[in-house]
Amino acid sequence: LPVVVLNGPNLARLGVREPEIYGIMTLQDIADRCRTWGQELDLDVDVRQTDEESQLVAWLHQAVDTRTHVVLNPAAFTHYSYALRDAAAQVTTSGLTLIEIHLSNPATRETFRHHSVVAGVATGTIAGFGHLSYRLALTALATTLLNKP
Ligand code: DQA
Repeated sequence: LPVVVLNGPNLARLGVREPEIYGIMTLQDIADRCRTWGQELDLDVDVRQTDEESQLVAWLHQAVDTRTHVVLNPAAFTHYSYALRDAAAQVTTSGLTLIEIHLSNPATRETFRHHSVVAGVATGTIAGFGHLSYRLALTALATTLLNKP
């Protein structure tokens, strides 16, 4: 099953960026693990990162056109990008699964992080488990779409 794991702005800085909040693993470490977990779960996982909103929108359009399920860490765009929300909505309304994820738990942080404009069009959201948020999202995809235990 094809799955794309999309990462938004500043996530290429994982490992050096506020490790007390986001952990010490780099995005490369997380990407390697996602591919390994994917193999275990029969998911064909492609991990990408960009700092640009337009690139994320284009990748979401591509997911629709190629019938690819999505795990999305929208990073700061979570809180204000209606363009990203509208692109994410096209994924879920086309019958694909889109799981919003966060390393940290935004609900416990600054007020501006409490609202997600993406959450309302996502299939579901996983937040607060560090790099394991990625694993939990892949497990949710395999469980719901491939009937894995
Ligand atoms: C984040 C949470 C966002 O509020 C923040 O802007 C990020 C990362 C997370 O994974 O915890 O860049 O999405």
